[in-house]
Amino acid sequence: MREPVQNVALSGGAVRIIDQTRLPGELVYLDLRTREELYEAIHSLRVRGAPAIGIFAAYAVYVLAAEYDPADFFPALDRDCDYLISSRPTAVNLARQVERMRALAHAMKGQPQETILSALRAEATAIHQEDIAMCRAIAEAGLGLLHPGDTVLTHCNAGPLATSEYGTGLGPLMLAAERGLDIKAYVDETRPLLQGARLTAWELQNAGIDCTLICDNMAALAMQQGKIQAVLAGCDRMAANGDAANKIGTMGAAILAKHFGVPVYILLPSSTIDLSCATGADIPIECRDGEEIRAKWYAQPMAPAGVKCWNPAFDVTDHTLITAIVTEKGVLYPPYEGQLAALFGNKEETE
Ligand code: MRU
Repeated sequence: MREPVQNVALSGGAVRIIDQTRLPGELVYLDLRTREELYEAIHSLRVRGAPAIGIFAAYAVYVLAAEYDPADFFPALDRDCDYLISSRPTAVNLARQVERMRALAHAMKGQPQETILSALRAEATAIHQEDIAMCRAIAEAGLGLLHPGDTVLTHCNAGPLATSEYGTGLGPLMLAAERGLDIKAYVDETRPLLQGARLTAWELQNAGIDCTLICDNMAALAMQQGKIQAVLAGCDRMAANGDAANKIGTMGAAILAKHFGVPVYILLPSSTIDLSCATGADIPIECRDGEEIRAKWYAQPMAPAGVKCWNPAFDVTDHTLITAIVTEKGVLYPPYEGQLAALFGNKEETE
């Protein structure tokens, strides 16, 4: 049995993470305490993946609140919640879990600070435990869509590092490996930040899963040659109609898959569904520093200094390109709109 990856945990008065920017070279844990450290860890992708940043931010709210002066508790809480939410815009889990923590504290106004703090700690732990259970259920439902002998294409990293334990997009692979089923993966390297090469390949290798790294622009040929039986991807925010924002390049993989008749499965927990977005056009897309394209990960810059770079971190895969959506409640087939609202309509709205 695999050892679960402890990518995010509470550790005394700190949030402990694996610094994902150091993988695969080094496995380094960081204990983060200050609001600036906590914000920076999300913004610079030391902790990343939609569910993981939601869990991390929930623990962060508790760790910060534990240090507040009682006279300034609620103004400080509101200031820090807003600050954490501003660290990244696309994954709805971040704002959703921070707002859940904030709402709980506000609902307890007037109670002793110690009581509020222990409730915040319990709530953050509950958010984490819920994600573990959802990932397990997603892995089980997703595995039902695959067959022994299949090879899937993955994009970005939707494994244990990005979530809890099984992961979402990688969950079926992890579960298959545990059960001795032969399911292999082609791993998109995922330019420009290489979450596929650095993190997915590392996780799959550690789990003993047969994986082959490819550059993103090799997926079309792999599909044309019949090497891929399904595309599995996670999600950062899903709109009410099933449009799915995920790592830049997911849309391209889905368009290729449609051309070559390969099914596309998007795997996500309900904490990533945002019914307040009618369509993907309502989802904010993070745009990051162009230096990530030009120079990051290279010993020397690979483009001239001063060249203009455009670096959107996510794209939206249209619901018409998605063969099935896999959540903790099972597998949904089109049309998604009414089904998502019926199943998840009681989720709180974030914006
Ligand atoms: O910029 P990142 O690395 O945080 O982007 C993450 C992704 O796009 C993942 O695929 C997504 O969060 C799903 S993780 C279960």
